[in-house]
Amino acid sequence: MSLPAPAPFRNPRAEFNFIGRSCSITGVGSAVPERIMTNAELETLVDTTDEWITTRTGIRSRRIAAPDVFTSDLAALAATRALAKAGVSPEDVDLIIVATITPDMPFPATACIVQQKIGAWRAAAFDLEAACSGFIFGLEIGQQFIMSRTYETVLVIGAEKLSSIVNWQDRNTCVLFGDGAGAAVLQHRPDSHGLLTACLGADGRKAELLSMPGGGSRCPATTKSVADGLHFLRMDGKETFKNAVQAMHSAAKEALRRCALDITRIKLVIPHQANLRIINAVGERLGATAEQVFINLDRYGNTSAASVAIALDEAVETGRVQKGDLVLLVVFGAGLTWGAAVIEW
Ligand code: UT7
Repeated sequence: MSLPAPAPFRNPRAEFNFIGRSCSITGVGSAVPERIMTNAELETLVDTTDEWITTRTGIRSRRIAAPDVFTSDLAALAATRALAKAGVSPEDVDLIIVATITPDMPFPATACIVQQKIGAWRAAAFDLEAACSGFIFGLEIGQQFIMSRTYETVLVIGAEKLSSIVNWQDRNTCVLFGDGAGAAVLQHRPDSHGLLTACLGADGRKAELLSMPGGGSRCPATTKSVADGLHFLRMDGKETFKNAVQAMHSAAKEALRRCALDITRIKLVIPHQANLRIINAVGERLGATAEQVFINLDRYGNTSAASVAIALDEAVETGRVQKGDLVLLVVFGAGLTWGAAVIEW
């Protein structure tokens, strides 16, 4: 069966893809830990207030994983839910991509641990690291394998246990982050254009803005590196904020331009959930209405690579995205990295 009659938007993939196979998201799922940490609880840990956190970030609570729950556990649960919704059994998965900055351990890849947990024995598996932008990077990589007919089914997961790298004594960062995972099953569907475009970007000149300096080859773990707090996440909030607004806006604009789409044609914008002020600024610059912009960071905080994946799952579950709708995902993170994707649902 061939694609339906040309839709009133441009599909750059169809124009440039000589193989002519689209890639759709056929199932999404998410998983967050049960434990809710409120702003009131943070008031007891650091010198902060619910009022400061709410007005400066929009975050009211976040989910925190138990000590014996790891990134791979959240990832495996989200993946199992996504596979169930897609009606795909784990043995049919060809490739697992896990986007994370909080792998279970430096190696082996968390994707391999997820493979073991869900029993996807036929799959190849690897991790990718593009920080908070990781899920869109994963979608783009996964769709290349589907488009080229290399694989039939790719599982893309964004998963984080950020509570494991947050300095719980640093009020500048500890109030911002949470744990969780989201997953998407990618397959070809002849009746949908699926992922229309993805614009990815990076700027390593600004790597210092958001990083965890310790634990790699540059600064292996020592008693001193631990004492100096080098194994905690660090961020220059103000500079990161400015870069986020600018990069998310231009990536989203470029994705729309490539598809010859006006923002009014987009049913839902799903931005990375880092700060309500960033989301509002990007939404305003794009000319999106409040109803067009999905927000759940009040309940989860910033879950990095899991953020848009969890949001996409919630948007689908609550009926805010339905078959045929056009969805714009837009992300930004450490690296710096950023990206935007347009999907026909
Ligand atoms: O996911 C990757 C991308 N991440 C982001 O995009 C995050 C981007 N950055 C941000 O969201 C914001 O910059 C923050 C929420 C991190 C900070 O907001 P801000 O409006 O930029 O505040 P600031 O860092 O300039 O701090 C303002 C004041 C400072 O006090 P002084 O120096 O003015 O006396 C901070 O010490 O707020 C103080 N402050 C706090 N006060 C109470 C910082 N954190 C807190 C806190 N509670 N938790």
